[in-house]
Amino acid sequence: MAIPERRTTETSRSGRFRHATDASVLEFSESVSFDRRLWRQDIVGSMAHARMLARIGVLSDGERDAILEGLEAIGNEIERGEFDWDPALEDVHMNIEAALTARVPAGAKLHTARSRNDQVVLDVRMWLREKTLETLEGIAALQRSLLELSRRSLPAAIPGYTHLQRAQPVPLAHHLLAYVEMLDRDAGRFRDSFPRLNVCPLGSGALAGSTLRNDREGVASELGFVDAAGEPQVSRNSMDAVGDRDFMVEHLAAAATLAVHLSRLCEDIVLWTSAEFGFLTLADAFTTGSSLMPQKKNPDLAELVRGRSGRVIGDLVSLLTLLKGLPMTYNRDLQEDKEPLFDAVDTILSCLGMTAAMLDHAQVMPESCRRAATDPVLLATDLADWLVEDGVPFREAHDLVGRVVALSEARGLPLDRLALDDLRGIDARFRKEALDVFSLERSLERRRTTGSPGWEEVGRQLDRWERLLEDESAGEG
Ligand code: ARG
Repeated sequence: MAIPERRTTETSRSGRFRHATDASVLEFSESVSFDRRLWRQDIVGSMAHARMLARIGVLSDGERDAILEGLEAIGNEIERGEFDWDPALEDVHMNIEAALTARVPAGAKLHTARSRNDQVVLDVRMWLREKTLETLEGIAALQRSLLELSRRSLPAAIPGYTHLQRAQPVPLAHHLLAYVEMLDRDAGRFRDSFPRLNVCPLGSGALAGSTLRNDREGVASELGFVDAAGEPQVSRNSMDAVGDRDFMVEHLAAAATLAVHLSRLCEDIVLWTSAEFGFLTLADAFTTGSSLMPQKKNPDLAELVRGRSGRVIGDLVSLLTLLKGLPMTYNRDLQEDKEPLFDAVDTILSCLGMTAAMLDHAQVMPESCRRAATDPVLLATDLADWLVEDGVPFREAHDLVGRVVALSEARGLPLDRLALDDLRGIDARFRKEALDVFSLERSLERRRTTGSPGWEEVGRQLDRWERLLEDESAGEG
């Protein structure tokens, strides 16, 4: 079998190679099939690099302008879907550079003082900046949906659960607001990661910078890699800049945590829409039927969000595993960072949108909520608190009320149907006022401390969140 001759389109293979890459190798190693989605960032980054090369005298003004025009034309072609991506050129960077050089001779100077190793990190950082902002918007939109549903749910109360056993009553809004809080911390994690993401690696070269005097700060400023004070942010170690991906790890760790929160919210939706709970009904448009059972209306979308959280966790683990044994600096393994990153970002954005849409079209079922929340046994702790206010030590009160519960079970009577004499038979300190605790309204009125599920406090939190999210959307505009 003859060894094929070197192909001239392979720009990464210099004069040192005598033979072409085997076709199977190209197929195995190409990344353009997935990294082409970085084309916009690649072009914008190359434009800034070209301007800088002209500033330091590597390009004439004419060459610079020809390169800028060429890149712009290529961008338009890609946008129109007319660009011919060639897997033999490996990746998005080589495809664009080769197309540029084919039409602009000065394109051959563009890769001066730059390597794909710093170029790819630049592109991904710029891409992830945008996606981080989109994710933050998606989180805020879901928070708004949760708030609206909370408002619509008033004054519905449901049992709060521990161990999935009925525990104590809470306003349904309080349960929903718990997710608003979780999402707020998720947003905080993405925001915290931003300053570390927003650092320009360009000029790090393959690993050792360049002998040419790159204006790294100028490029960073032009590409928006600046801090709050407008100061350019450039990486300070060329090896670190091309060799690490911890900015992606941070994003994926925040994404995995968010995915777990979405999964738990969706699990609650699945439970709540079951006949056993019946607290919520989903709109037809956001449910699916069964191919066999005509009566079914299934919460498939909530289940899919729950299921897809597993992918995001997997993406994080893939990336960490990819990184853990790598020697300094760039290794081709790092090309495998993109698919998990893209997958996690896409999954998160679509899951945020779908969950919000589902909630926007959900309806609270007040009657089922009321039936479940008025179970008097949910107020057993309130009865113990009543004894405490009368001077009984809590441990003793806990035991006494436990006996009251046992009696109600033995008699087959709800807790609030026992007679005062029954209670006094257990302990003489029970007085007639003790029976007043069996009021859901009273119980929810009396929970007043910050973070409690009392009506007033829940109303306060709801108002606070509405104000915060309004300010945020006003700030965006
Ligand atoms: N496609 C490569 C990646 O995503 C770009 C860098 C290639 N560098 C190299 N030395 N082969 O990582």
